[in-house]
Amino acid sequence: MSELEAKYITEVISSQFSVSSGASFMMRLEAAFAKRFSVPSAIAFVNGTATMHAALEAAGVGVGDEVIVPPLTMSSTSLAVLQSNATPVFADVDRETFQICPNAILDAITEKTKAVIVVALYGGSPDLPKIRQICDQRGLVLIEDNAECFLGENNGKLVGQYGDFSSFSFQSTKHLTSGEGGILLCRRKEDAQSVRSIQSLGYRGLSADKAKITKEDIQNPNFKRHGVLGWNYRMPELCCAVALAQTERIDELVSQRVRVGKIFAEALSEFEGKVISSQKNYENTSNTYWCYAFSLNTDVITWDEFRRLFLSLGGDPFYAAWSLSYLEPMFIERNFLGREKFISEHNLSKYQRGLCPIAEEVQPKIVQLKTNYWNIDDALKQANLLRTAMEQACV
Ligand SMILES: Cc1ncc(COP(=O)(O)O)c(C=O)c1O
Repeated sequence: MSELEAKYITEVISSQFSVSSGASFMMRLEAAFAKRFSVPSAIAFVNGTATMHAALEAAGVGVGDEVIVPPLTMSSTSLAVLQSNATPVFADVDRETFQICPNAILDAITEKTKAVIVVALYGGSPDLPKIRQICDQRGLVLIEDNAECFLGENNGKLVGQYGDFSSFSFQSTKHLTSGEGGILLCRRKEDAQSVRSIQSLGYRGLSADKAKITKEDIQNPNFKRHGVLGWNYRMPELCCAVALAQTERIDELVSQRVRVGKIFAEALSEFEGKVISSQKNYENTSNTYWCYAFSLNTDVITWDEFRRLFLSLGGDPFYAAWSLSYLEPMFIERNFLGREKFISEHNLSKYQRGLCPIAEEVQPKIVQLKTNYWNIDDALKQANLLRTAMEQACV
């Protein structure tokens, strides 16, 4: 956080959240994102899960529809599908990039498939050109979940420019944060109109570019507010103020993480293929290193032993990969708040071990190193400790 974030917050507070001036930070944030990604519209949300739920609703996804998702990610991706009353269908990941595998997507398509949600995992990029082609050929909606990837590139385009919808999260661990928040890029203006209405209680009088109705609009006893079902998924103005400041500083925020990621890559290079296999990137893509991820060779040292060793040397705590979504109790026990009745027994019975063998093999071995070191000396120190830990692991 810098003085800019504090300045913008003060402006919101000074405005007393007045409707006439109060919508400005949300609209400024939306305009800044739309411009940066060269898309017609961006709509700000309360978080980067509501974004995906809204995208699915706007795409008309619902009961009986199948949506293909990766299992190796934070589970919001599949939760959003359930929130839309649809069926998450899991496609396995690629062993080297850890990203959803295009061939597994092809295998998972049925006549009920309506959409695919891909995740740009750990700051890298999925094989977006191939997946876009699959979606175009099969008439599927493509939603990008880029909570962990800001300004990543893929074959000359930004990650975020391939999807019909593209979601970002501003949760506290992300490249760009306002504590909580998110934004949804829309490739088509007419989709953005639907998304706005879903984001804002179905209010009439709103549009992709108009985030709030003013008091004057509604001073009529016969005024009818709700044209369609919607949610209140609006991002609070204070969060929008912080997120706008962070958006204006995004190049600096991303490049610091990339710098740290490269320091770790360099420190670990001599152990590649022996003790670890770092996350690989597809050709012509860049990694924005939300974290630095590698798969540990657990024949050399177990995950727990490596963590104990690294911490004993003074290393910062690192993280494990999330349990695969379909192995979470809510999937195994079918606890979908009644929505399980919308899912066929055939699909429900797949939510168990054995569904995505590569993800199941890789997930327990993954180490996620944090990259948000703002003092580069701290990152260099961690890199040296990593090297020492690797050497000791080999003994
Ligand atoms: C890949 C991914 N998708 C979605 C989310 C959910 O975002 P939010 O916490 O803003 O709902 C996160 C993390 O929070 C994430 O890492």
